[in-house]
Amino acid sequence: MSIRVNPVSACMGAEIVGLDVRRQFNDEAFAIVEKAFHDHMVIAIRDQSLSAEDQKAFSRRFGPLEVQANSTYAIPGHPEVLIISNDLVDGKPVGLIDAGDHWHTDSQSRAIPSRATILHAIRNPSQGGDTFFANMYAAYDSLSDDVKRRISGLHGVNASSKLKNPRVVVSQRRPDADDFYASRLGKPDVLHPIVRVHPVTKRKALYLSPRFTIAIAELPDEEGQPLLDMLFEQQMRPKFRYDHKWRDGDLVMWDNRCLMHCASGGYTYPDVRRMHRTVIVGEKPE
Ligand code: SIN
Repeated sequence: MSIRVNPVSACMGAEIVGLDVRRQFNDEAFAIVEKAFHDHMVIAIRDQSLSAEDQKAFSRRFGPLEVQANSTYAIPGHPEVLIISNDLVDGKPVGLIDAGDHWHTDSQSRAIPSRATILHAIRNPSQGGDTFFANMYAAYDSLSDDVKRRISGLHGVNASSKLKNPRVVVSQRRPDADDFYASRLGKPDVLHPIVRVHPVTKRKALYLSPRFTIAIAELPDEEGQPLLDMLFEQQMRPKFRYDHKWRDGDLVMWDNRCLMHCASGGYTYPDVRRMHRTVIVGEKPE
């Protein structure tokens, strides 16, 4: 076995080649992949051909799996595997079409957010469909000492429903989206520290996002909203970004504790994109 880990940008990300996770994912291969994940934050294992069962087996090596919040679009018999797609069968969507359409980190509105997300590219469109990533260690590190002091100990208020967040819109491409987000309006908001210490690397990362964070718990809105705007701008600076261009068979895994991501869109049916997603349960942010 000759597994190679090749960085793909100066900012973050690596591809892993020479590994068939269905046949060769022994302890040695696992250790290489886990190290690459912590070193590079987002990794793309190239050329994988996996059933839903295979993807679950790979994912479970890293921890228990979340059951997908939107069960309408899970693969039948696999509630842990979500289809993200714009494909239609008999005019009906087979997958979640608007997944990740605003900058976010996964499940930030839950008390226990996701550790890692794993996406397997089944089919890529002829154009568009990239996933953008932003490095939240770098975004934190390059803040001034003044701002670091100001945000130390503050908590973001994170909302599940997009209808509570004036910074985002509900996609009208998904027929049930308005009802879905209306049904979540009653869910309590969840507080998380704005500066999060990664449990493995011990590095500090900015932990808030335009999709989920609607206020700062300790500040009135006159102060909190401009501070959020400034921090969101910092998070999305181009120098902290890596844009992943998908190849068929890519198995991409990212660390929700130290990066944000966003689906770029830019393709239209019948140009089909189809991804299968599994998510590893995380830990309470410290
Ligand atoms: C996601 O945010 O989980 C989906 C990202 C993508 O489809 O590119």
